[in-house]
Amino acid sequence: MVESQTMTAGNSSVSSRGTGARVQISNLVKMFGPVAAVDHINIDIEPGEFFTLLGPSGCGKTTTLRMVGGLEKPTEGSITIGDDVVVSVSDRKFVQPEKRDLGMVFQSYALWPHMTVFENVAYPLKMRKVKKSEISDRVSEALRQVGLAGFGQRPSPLLSGGQQQRVALARALVYSPRVLLLDEPLSNLDAKLRVTMRQELRELQERVDVTMIYVTHDQVEALSLSDRIAIMNSGNVEQIGTPQEVYLNPATAFAQDFLGQTIGVLGTMEDDGVVSVKGDSESRLKGTVADASLRKGDAVLVAIRPERMLAHSQMPTGVANVVRAKVMEATFVGDHYEYKAEIGDEIRMISLPSTTVYGEGDNLFLEFPESAVVVWGAAAQAVIANIRAD
Ligand SMILES: Nc1ncnc2c1ncn2[C@@H]1O[C@H](COP(=O)(O)OP(=O)(O)O)[C@@H](O)[C@H]1O
Ligand SMILES: [Mg+2]
Repeated sequence: MVESQTMTAGNSSVSSRGTGARVQISNLVKMFGPVAAVDHINIDIEPGEFFTLLGPSGCGKTTTLRMVGGLEKPTEGSITIGDDVVVSVSDRKFVQPEKRDLGMVFQSYALWPHMTVFENVAYPLKMRKVKKSEISDRVSEALRQVGLAGFGQRPSPLLSGGQQQRVALARALVYSPRVLLLDEPLSNLDAKLRVTMRQELRELQERVDVTMIYVTHDQVEALSLSDRIAIMNSGNVEQIGTPQEVYLNPATAFAQDFLGQTIGVLGTMEDDGVVSVKGDSESRLKGTVADASLRKGDAVLVAIRPERMLAHSQMPTGVANVVRAKVMEATFVGDHYEYKAEIGDEIRMISLPSTTVYGEGDNLFLEFPESAVVVWGAAAQAVIANIRAD
């Protein structure tokens, strides 16, 4: 269905420029039979913000976006765009998608193949019976915004994938909507083009005053594009924050694992937040304890981002927070080495720069700066992937 692929609509005067609207999602639930695809989520998106829903496949991102767009009706909860309640289950209110003043761009660009670029972009305006002279100006402006000035007369099938996606963007922007919804819009493009389009999207967002709600499972896209990110898991929001906040201070073990790499070391909580490493009675680690309910004797998982870890070939003097490791296997992978290493009695994969090369049987002394260490409860073991890396 074309309308669900790309759509623009508006209820304000066509000639007024769009201004980014606040979007408030309150207590939103969507059940599909017994399954909660979206399970009581609350998100408050600022006017003009680039806000990303990030999470693995099936976590409820698309369903959430479709409820904002009015393509799906919530089971519970409400959504407000600007000052307008667009859906409220308790008040039995539902505003039709075309009255919500938003644009949508989805993974498949769904341009009409029998139309030129101009006609594709003009279509939503024609539907709204906008004057011909005005249509021409607005289409030119929208094409200019997406870097396709002068492409109007091109038949749309003669465009590359990246150009087609830009036309879809122009078609969503031509109405100057208050909110733009984007569901994995770059995932059909090849890797190089994705990087270029990522930059263009970011620049576009700075030029056009529109609130963008962006859905992706790609953490690099989320980190590089967003003002803020909501990390979703099984219909829930695990954390909302700036890219730096969610990467550097993950609120949950899931957030720690989903975003970036993690090296995890098993241990036991000792007094004053110090952890003794499992299978290595001499090593002690200290860090930020993420779970306040942890007590002495509890099993824990010490987590660190690999880029914060420092490797030494000998025990460094005057440095705390060092773990011993033994190299079991070394693999050269171009710009770095991958080591299979024994830490305590566990096996972990560790990447290190090629500047120092370690061989099988070599000792490694891994320094975990205290400020970079997070201590999670034992339940995190089931979540953090590198734990299972043997
Ligand atoms: N129309 C539908 N009918 C039944 N189940 C659905 C429907 N749409 C989505 N789901 C289920 O809801 C969950 C969330 O899906 P979705 O929002 O598409 O996730 P995401 O976009 O994060 O991959 C999944 O378990 C999915 O199978
Ligand atoms: Mg999806």
